[in-house]
Amino acid sequence: MGGEEKEEIMCGIVAYYGKRNVSEVLLDCLQRLEYRGYDSAGIAICESGNIDIIKTTGKIKHLREKIDINKYSMTHLGIGHTRWATHGVVSDKNAHPHKVDNISLVHNGIIENYMDLKEKIEKRYALQSETDSEIIAHLIAEKYNGDLLNSAINTVKNLKGSYALAIISDKEPETLVLVKKENPLIIGIGEDEIFVASDLTALTAYTDNFIILEDENIAKIYKTDIKLYNFNGDPISTNSKRVKLNFQMANKGGYKHYMLKEIFEQPKALLDTFLNHISNNHEKIIFNEFENIEDRIMSSKSIQIIGCGTSYHAAMIGKYLIEKYSGLSVSVDIASEFRYRNMTPTDNQIIIFISQSGETADTLASVKLVKKNKITTIALTNMISSSITRMTDSTIYTYAGPEIGVASTKAFTTQIIILYLFAIYLGQCTKRLNDRNIKEHIEKIIRLPDLLDGVIKMNDIISEIAMKCINYEHFLFLGRNINYPVALEGALKLKEVSYIHAEGYAAGELKHGPIALISKKVPVFVIATQSQTYDKIIGNIEEIKARNGTVYAIASSGDKRVINLVDGFVFIPSVDEDLSIFPNTVIFQLFAYHCANYLGLDVDQPRNLAKSVTVE
Ligand code: F6R
Repeated sequence: MGGEEKEEIMCGIVAYYGKRNVSEVLLDCLQRLEYRGYDSAGIAICESGNIDIIKTTGKIKHLREKIDINKYSMTHLGIGHTRWATHGVVSDKNAHPHKVDNISLVHNGIIENYMDLKEKIEKRYALQSETDSEIIAHLIAEKYNGDLLNSAINTVKNLKGSYALAIISDKEPETLVLVKKENPLIIGIGEDEIFVASDLTALTAYTDNFIILEDENIAKIYKTDIKLYNFNGDPISTNSKRVKLNFQMANKGGYKHYMLKEIFEQPKALLDTFLNHISNNHEKIIFNEFENIEDRIMSSKSIQIIGCGTSYHAAMIGKYLIEKYSGLSVSVDIASEFRYRNMTPTDNQIIIFISQSGETADTLASVKLVKKNKITTIALTNMISSSITRMTDSTIYTYAGPEIGVASTKAFTTQIIILYLFAIYLGQCTKRLNDRNIKEHIEKIIRLPDLLDGVIKMNDIISEIAMKCINYEHFLFLGRNINYPVALEGALKLKEVSYIHAEGYAAGELKHGPIALISKKVPVFVIATQSQTYDKIIGNIEEIKARNGTVYAIASSGDKRVINLVDGFVFIPSVDEDLSIFPNTVIFQLFAYHCANYLGLDVDQPRNLAKSVTVE
């Protein structure tokens, strides 16, 4: 893109046709998608032979203030957009929808041949924005000959890149055209009404009947009649499916923030997730998802786990667990690194891709890369029918319910319970674990929700520690062995929501550099629960205290050795090291939450972040 101002967006798209007040429905759906981006937002509504466009920088609530809702009580069709810009300034003119002549559209994705197209278009027209999306509107408007569908089909031939589009024209006030390539787009079918959104969660309040568009699908919706075509314009069949999601879960339910609610929901989220994988007599681990790939799993020699951000931290935990219980070697990769590395495929390799949203661009690109190498691929995701589920050989779902807070919490703990179960499952298949071992693991797993309920009851203690910490500018988190990724995740959570700079380290690394940072101004949060390396962690705490450092610790109940050393502590009940990752994670989540809340920050939508990173 040659450094030109160009818009790359992760964003949310919505559209509506029906008898409700169009602006209300669009705003409501946009609100539910706001976690995907919240720099600017806009809607376009077909009104008395015109298209009204209202757009603004800022959040949906700012857009709401600009709209005269009553004006649209008799209108039927509209489209909307919430934007998260990565390139190109956040401005009203760059906000969507874009309008060129009689065409108006919203776009999610990146047009890779934008510069070539722009050069040609700007010879003929003065561009109003710096976006690649406006270029698409120009192309469609140029090709428009009275048939919106045809002009969309003719336009996609010229586009390279990824795009989900919703397009309307004031010349066809009851027609909506949708185009999907690589970015998600879902049609919700109601009674005499049609909803469209970038994901299911925006629509579950309205319907449970969906058409999930596949790549290179174009949909023409005339009133409520839906017809699907491929990119050549050939008709294809439409298969709708019913998906039940618990809409109640997408409300704040009396909590001040989604993040807090979602942290508190973890005992139930874990239960809902692990129950699917434990036999009724509590003796075996089951993965029905592997029906078609069981042989390949049984003959696998190595496992790789790939993800981004929090999902990558889950992958790291998976490595510890799977290596320990299955004896297989496991490697982990950050998806954005993996996709540009020259990986050498090995025979009988399984790759697990972890993505809460199932839409992360780097993770999807990594799946595509390995598909060429005929490796067995498994998705671990929280989003039913997300893109990753259609690209992999098998999908394991976490049942965390919709996660709206941008900082991932319950998705993470449900990912790691699945990885734990998978590790035991492999141990069961390879007979490294005997029946008694497996039963013991299952019993421990079943007690996890109660264990986490106990941790949540310590919310006030954690909140008090947070209160003492909000004026620090830097923080270190230390953990060791399987709790090392938990330290990384604790640091990530704190950075994300409180903007306090934090780094996680493997405690054994302290002497190899980070100890130089120790001072009164840089407190350290240490995971000092019972573990095979407990004494060494105590050594680390002593080293920090000897240098006048401030230490907060998570310790096992009643551990006097730790409490005599540190400046503040939270106890967890005595549990196996492997299980301690769950309570330790929840404590760090609550700590980050309370810091951000005391600082008065936008906990659920931290600056510069978006929930689904659908562009590279
Ligand atoms: C952190 C966070 C991100 C995501 C990452 C991957 O709280 O939410 O680091 O974990 O963007 O997202 P998914 O799991 O949707 O692929």
